Amino acid sequence: MRVFEAVKMCEERLSGLENPTLEAEWLVALTLKVKRSEVYSHSEVGKRSEKRLLKNLERRACGEPLAYIVNSANFYGYDLFVNKSVLIPRPETEELVLTAKDFITMESSVLDIGTGSGAIAIAIKKQTNANVFAVDISKRAIKIAEKNAKNNHADIKFAVSDLFSGVKGHKFDVIIANPPYICPKDYEKLDKTVKDFEPKLALVGGKDGLELYRKIISQAPKFLKESGRIFFEIGYDQAQSVKNLLEKDFEEIVIKKDLEGNDRIVYALLKRRE
Ligand SMILES: C[S@@+](CC[C@H](N)C(=O)[O-])C[C@H]1O[C@@H](n2cnc3c(N)ncnc32)[C@H](O)[C@@H]1O
Repeated sequence: MRVFEAVKMCEERLSGLENPTLEAEWLVALTLKVKRSEVYSHSEVGKRSEKRLLKNLERRACGEPLAYIVNSANFYGYDLFVNKSVLIPRPETEELVLTAKDFITMESSVLDIGTGSGAIAIAIKKQTNANVFAVDISKRAIKIAEKNAKNNHADIKFAVSDLFSGVKGHKFDVIIANPPYICPKDYEKLDKTVKDFEPKLALVGGKDGLELYRKIISQAPKFLKESGRIFFEIGYDQAQSVKNLLEKDFEEIVIKKDLEGNDRIVYALLKRRE
């Protein structure tokens, strides 16, 4: 099959999506393992690639995110393997890394809670060379995060752990987390492409979406060094609630918006112990 015919075929099958041409070009490019800009410099899609393309096209037409189909996502410039066991890292989360890295040096010790694909931990390690520890309650996620760290030459310690259970006895300069923060009611309203494919464990944060913040914030003082800081990604309507939770033990609480203008990051400094 000629490449332009392949793109056209995909475009027609994906006509219900927001940008069928772009989707079609991405699908062909990723199936052929070339850059999107290079798609038209190839003339033919070979028989084996064509078979793969048809399979991938059906998956995409059923709403599966492209990242899962091609097992690849890019976060902060780092290529990561992803599958349905981990959340596809989001561009908003890059803002969290960008904010936190200003407070991290190569002497810092950093804990990433709910590491998923390892996205935050890997970007922090590569950007700062700090000592990074990353945990997740999901064994499968930790396996993937380990593989991604290896592929990106990032030396990170990983542990399967329910929040802090696997890091007892350690103290950190920085705790960073993008915990599940959607409430069950909003989860039901999520786009099918998210709800039907991404892990619920990575999305729903207890009855009101704040459960994980409550647990992390109440235990964090025990795991932070003096002058330690905590950084969270939050849902667009959770800034005030998370700030209220932080006020008992933290000060200098800052709320930051993402590029879309939504509250997205909250960070704070541990209060001095008397
Ligand atoms: C929103 S995802 C974030 C993944 C990744 N850090 C990112 O930003 O792309 C939340 C992650 O928290 C993990 N998680 C959920 N409950 C947890 C718990 N009690 N302890 C540790 N990790 C948990 C999930 O398995 C999931 O990988």
